[in-house]
Amino acid sequence: MQPIAFSQFTIQSIAWMSPQPITTILRRKTTSLRRLQPIFAVASPARHQTTHSMPPEKLEIFKSIESWVSESVLPLLKPVEKCWQPSEFLPNKSQGPEQFAEEVRALRQRVLGLSDDIYLVVLYGTMTERCFAAYQTMINTWEGVRDETGSSPSPWAIWTRAWTAEENRHGNLLRTYLYLSGRVDMLMIEETQQYLIGAGMDNGTKNNPYLGFVYTSFQERATFLSHGKMARLAKEGGDPVLARICGTIAADEKRHENAYTKIIEKLLEVDPNVTMLAIANMMKKKITMPMHLMYDGRDPNIFEHFSAMSQRLGIYTSRDYAEIIEFFIARWKLEKLEGLEGEARRARDFVCGLPPKIRRLQNRADERAKKLESRRVKFSWIFNKEVSV
Ligand SMILES: [Fe+2]
Ligand SMILES: [Fe+2]
Repeated sequence: MQPIAFSQFTIQSIAWMSPQPITTILRRKTTSLRRLQPIFAVASPARHQTTHSMPPEKLEIFKSIESWVSESVLPLLKPVEKCWQPSEFLPNKSQGPEQFAEEVRALRQRVLGLSDDIYLVVLYGTMTERCFAAYQTMINTWEGVRDETGSSPSPWAIWTRAWTAEENRHGNLLRTYLYLSGRVDMLMIEETQQYLIGAGMDNGTKNNPYLGFVYTSFQERATFLSHGKMARLAKEGGDPVLARICGTIAADEKRHENAYTKIIEKLLEVDPNVTMLAIANMMKKKITMPMHLMYDGRDPNIFEHFSAMSQRLGIYTSRDYAEIIEFFIARWKLEKLEGLEGEARRARDFVCGLPPKIRRLQNRADERAKKLESRRVKFSWIFNKEVSV
């Protein structure tokens, strides 16, 4: 079955790393069917970038809830000594070279049952995790919560640094596991990663923490769900260790989701109108996933190809997008939110009406997809093997 994959890329060469090399950045050409793409394919890197969108008087709001952050958000971080570390899931060198080689052999044996498309999904998840430099940069653009010095004692900054360190573990573990598996072209992965971090990300949060924390709430829930699905696929493919890795990472993502969701809940309590408008603002733009500027130096449509394949596997689809919005409508009790003024009331009605609309679009897209032929596409990350998209 052909998954939905209708938007097209054009390539725009930008000498932003001049004098050389010339780096290509993907620019997505909008089509009337773009809205039917899996949501993480909805990206608009060429959109106008607005900065400093939060009125300065709102800084006080974020200052005023710092003690609440210390009491209610920081406890969601685990002390380092109680955290898992990547080496606990990987072949152990301390048992001597023979035991290590034996454990690597066992790992390679386990991954043989995983299909190429599942492998690509895990690879994508790995690269998303390894984008933490871009995430931390993004969060430190948000006014009132940024880390002003790089080691600021503000609870906002403490959270951001510790959160980054947790994301760092996820990427390190998955990358090492995939490297030892021998099934991926590490050079292509590394080039993709370098392109990706160099390109950065534009998620439309405009230096604004109201918008930013809506984005991170959504992003963490999406990552929690996709890691959970990866765990199931790994188990079905015969690799219980990879399944345990994905499940462990999913548990961390759930904790992160809790933290960001609590922050929006608090903002709804202290500043309901502006927070409600921020939720609607991000939903109108659609949440852009962090890999939308992905490029491997070979395939200018790699993001589109990956998105189509992921949609086919059901890893992250428009249905998930609708379910995530529904989850937040319930979690933040948006339907019962009181004290909203005119525009914010309309924003609430817009957000609460979104899930059925998205599902209707998805159903139409499914019907259309059934009529299309599947294509075979080569992916450089797995030595140019072909996968159906
Ligand atoms: Fe993560
Ligand atoms: Fe996370």
